[in-house]
Amino acid sequence: MNFKLSEEHEMIRKMVRDFARNEVAPTAAERDEEERFDREIFNKMAELGLTGIPWPEEYGGIGSDYLAYCIAVEELSRVCASTGVTLSAHTSLAGWPIYKFGSEEQKQKFLRPMALGEKIGGYGLTEPGSGSDAGGMKTTARRDGDEFILNGSKIFITNGGIADIYVVFAVTDAAQKHKGTSAFIVESDTPGFSVGKKEKKLGIRSSPTTEIIFEDCRVPAANMLGAEGEGFKIAMMTLDGGRNGIAAQAVGIAQGALDAATDYAKERVQFGKPIAQQQGVGFKLADMATSIEAARLLTYQAAWLESEGLPYGKESAMSKLFAGDTAMKVTTEAVQIFGGYGYTKDYPVERYMRDAKITQIYEGTQEIQRLVISRMITK
Ligand code: CAA
Repeated sequence: MNFKLSEEHEMIRKMVRDFARNEVAPTAAERDEEERFDREIFNKMAELGLTGIPWPEEYGGIGSDYLAYCIAVEELSRVCASTGVTLSAHTSLAGWPIYKFGSEEQKQKFLRPMALGEKIGGYGLTEPGSGSDAGGMKTTARRDGDEFILNGSKIFITNGGIADIYVVFAVTDAAQKHKGTSAFIVESDTPGFSVGKKEKKLGIRSSPTTEIIFEDCRVPAANMLGAEGEGFKIAMMTLDGGRNGIAAQAVGIAQGALDAATDYAKERVQFGKPIAQQQGVGFKLADMATSIEAARLLTYQAAWLESEGLPYGKESAMSKLFAGDTAMKVTTEAVQIFGGYGYTKDYPVERYMRDAKITQIYEGTQEIQRLVISRMITK
């Protein structure tokens, strides 16, 4: 048993922390207010190798692991949760299934430019009528010679409109239920593909979330990911790891809120002494720090399991469940510690609180995480 991070992990943490403080934090509030994605930030992440952390160098990555990737998402989210989820969806929702299920040709053609940050990845599973019940999707893919013709729409797509490459799930044989779903790689310049409504959101406002639409969208059969009928399994396996990326995002959000609340509580004097020295506030900070540490340990454990090639689906659902709830609780307490000031946009904690909420919803609601965990421990 060893809880010490390796030199490589410490180095990546320091590099991402410096980058986040210097390049991401200064515009985080402004981008949130303007609902503005900044491609320059993504390009700079690419220069640092952050857009391909776990992928081997032969696919344009830096050959590190899932723990390093989680540390990067955590440090980015500590200052800007939108930037954290941009990287998370790009890496674990779009890059991962191509890395795991893609042919050599698909990896060179799609994963490599994504890892190098030349292209951005997205993931299309959710539909207006199928959120938690992902197997209820209606988007179809009908074979026509060397192509599949996709029709339907996907909603709540993180990186929607900015992504160049989407991993999309569609029904190829409705009679086969889960086994009649297939996965496809769809490039954004494919005729018949379009970007629909952009959501106006409570939080993660500088991460674009859109609808994507397929109208007789002809995708080469060579872009099918994995075998025909394997799509639902690919979607679920992708989420197994993706959820831990969201756990890392939640840990970062919570830590960012704790950092701000701690600094404030040490400065803010009421009743003749800093509020941090008043037990009511001091104990809040202690509980916040303890929950974050527990969430971080769960997250790192799941990342370590995945990096070691061990089963991690249950642990990843647990980390997402616990870290998401921690982020919501900690950010709410941070606003409370700031009092009236915390309710204004003069301080970052209201943004952290708004950003935290989504970590209890996307990549499977907290209720779905409980379903996954309970099924795994009772099967
Ligand atoms: N790994 C491999 N296979 C899996 C699996 C997994 N984790 N989970 C399920 N499967 C397989 C099952 O073994 C089963 O296969 P067989 O038919 O061969 O037995 C098949 O898939 C169907 O499984 P279930 O019967 O368990 O399926 P279900 O319909 O009951 O659904 C569910 C299970 C867990 C509820 C699933 O629908 C689910 O995860 N829902 C939540 C969807 C979700 O998380 N959406 C997030 C969207 S992405 C997003 O949010 C991104 C973002 O914005 C950043």
